[in-house]
Amino acid sequence: MAASRSDALVLFGVTGDLAHKMIFPALYAMVKRGTLKVPVIGVALPKWSLARLHKRVTDSIKRSGGIDNQRAFHQLLSLLKYVSGDYKDPNTFMAIKGALSKARRPAHYLAIPPSVFEMVIKGLGAANLAEHARVIVEKPFGRDLASAKELNKVARAVFPENSIFRIDHYLGKEAIMNILYFRFANSFLEPIWNRNYVASVQVTLSEDFGVEDRGAFYETAGCLRDVIENHLFQVVALLAMEPPADRDFGAVHTEKAKVFQAMRPLQRDDLVRGQYAGYRKEPGVAKHSDVETFCAMRLFIDSWRWAGVPWYLRSGKYLPETATEVVVELKPPPQRLFADSTSATGESNYLRFRVSPNSAVALAARVKLAGKEFVGEQRELYLFEERPGEESPYERLLGDAMIGDGALFTREDAVEAAWAVVDPVLMKHHRVRPYKRLSWGPKEADAIIASDGAWQNPKLGEASE
Ligand code: BG6
Repeated sequence: MAASRSDALVLFGVTGDLAHKMIFPALYAMVKRGTLKVPVIGVALPKWSLARLHKRVTDSIKRSGGIDNQRAFHQLLSLLKYVSGDYKDPNTFMAIKGALSKARRPAHYLAIPPSVFEMVIKGLGAANLAEHARVIVEKPFGRDLASAKELNKVARAVFPENSIFRIDHYLGKEAIMNILYFRFANSFLEPIWNRNYVASVQVTLSEDFGVEDRGAFYETAGCLRDVIENHLFQVVALLAMEPPADRDFGAVHTEKAKVFQAMRPLQRDDLVRGQYAGYRKEPGVAKHSDVETFCAMRLFIDSWRWAGVPWYLRSGKYLPETATEVVVELKPPPQRLFADSTSATGESNYLRFRVSPNSAVALAARVKLAGKEFVGEQRELYLFEERPGEESPYERLLGDAMIGDGALFTREDAVEAAWAVVDPVLMKHHRVRPYKRLSWGPKEADAIIASDGAWQNPKLGEASE
């Protein structure tokens, strides 16, 4: 399909939480920017009136920053339509067809529970609503390798691959895009970006809050599925990939898929799973739950570039900070020419990518302190800092999907290759270890990295932040 603009947005799950928290603010921002002018058809089971939907949208926008442009706000309301119906019922799809009226190239956005993805995709196919259309699928795309394959199969039976947009909102973040840019827009990095110079890589996504009102969802997911297999793996792929062959985004997808294909499937001992104190008392959580709210792992990419380099990934709820950061540790110089060279302090040179809450790149190197002695300290050369851009990931991703730009989405082969890496440990793993709230997880997580040093915890509020 030529990359023409979608001429309507069909929003399945319009009465849900995601729509309220993320999608309505994104649509409002798009209207303000002039990138959304087409009808938005909300679909859900409840028998809401259009007025009720308007109220919900108004509330969402007020909560997310307020209505600062009355014209855009009223324009958004005027674009909305509402179709109530069961996704099982072919009449629902007939009603959508009616609401689409003259639109011929809709984008169908599935902001619904994964259990009904397949039903809706099949419904769209059966009602002839897939032709010239696009489908945007929310996460999680599958819950293991088999279910991801099945979902891909169902989606591919109805839509061509270039009309399927699998969302990973991390890819819509400015700082994540900068990893790709920074790596391939500069020449100084390439010579050292390999097993000869890189000792290890750490990626941390930490949050200082718990599962909040998502206990029931979390019970079906856990930290590994919720953020590591998708968000953190995407970060790893951008850090580890080979340069794409050309500018086409398909080339980036190809290189990212190769990274997942080269990842060594995880084994039980590669992983430490933790659970914060009190998790089992959260609403919707089982009394004896073994679901992890923290996960740390050691991962290997068996490729020419990365053979032997350990990648340490970690994420958790109720950790001391809310931040996402990558630390690429370099090997020490070959000789210890100075008394304080490297291991005296245990600190080696590193490159640090801060992904959130701000976007920054820092390079740590030793410099001599004034005086007779040849001793120094490690300082950070701060290369770039920015507050997150104006466009939220959802605004960016929705806008891209509606013009058919798949650069920031995930491709079928990459999704399956990523699941294949975690599949062996989804069921076979050690029990969760308890950890105190606002600690850096169970102590066993330190043991996993001990042979290569220690975790570097993101530090907020420093001068260079
Ligand atoms: C979501 C997870 O995909 O990502 C959440 O379901 C997590 O549990 C969130 O909190 C983190 O994303 P961000 O953009 O807030 O860092």
